[in-house]
Amino acid sequence: MKQVLLTEIIKHKITQKYLKRSGVHHAVLTTERAVELAKQSGVNINLAAKAALLHDIGHYEWYKDGKWDYQEYRKHDIHAIKGAERAHKLLVRLGEDPQTAKEISIAILLHTDSYLPFSIENMRSPLHEVVYKADEMEELPGGQHHYKYMSIEEAEIRLRQIDELLLKELETKPSISQ
Ligand SMILES: [Fe+2]
Repeated sequence: MKQVLLTEIIKHKITQKYLKRSGVHHAVLTTERAVELAKQSGVNINLAAKAALLHDIGHYEWYKDGKWDYQEYRKHDIHAIKGAERAHKLLVRLGEDPQTAKEISIAILLHTDSYLPFSIENMRSPLHEVVYKADEMEELPGGQHHYKYMSIEEAEIRLRQIDELLLKELETKPSISQ
């Protein structure tokens, strides 16, 4: 099974279509944060990085009369559900190992519980905790983190550094993609 790279993911038109809505900047910073947290807690970096990069891929239009309506959006939001499905489809299309794609998809589904009628506090696995924490650390009040700009070119440069780390890990620990 080939190693799907973060740079391959960010270059894909589906990623760009949806990540531009929720912010490439937020996705990349959350990924970098997740890699650090994963290293500290012994969580699989490959899973953490990909889940963090794609965690908000399920966001959809939240503008009303050309303006952000965060409160209204939150009421109907199911971005984690949409994102889990979208990311899974994308990863499988790129040739990702099915088990890896499933684990990343579940981490996206559980990266927030704001859309659920109950809390999942203390129920998260270490991987889910890493993605949740990384996202939380990069959040700004009122959803402002979704508006910070980063070009795809800069995103590629930053993600390439994580790819190099993942490929190095793969040489020493071949099970990293599982
Ligand atoms: Fe987020």
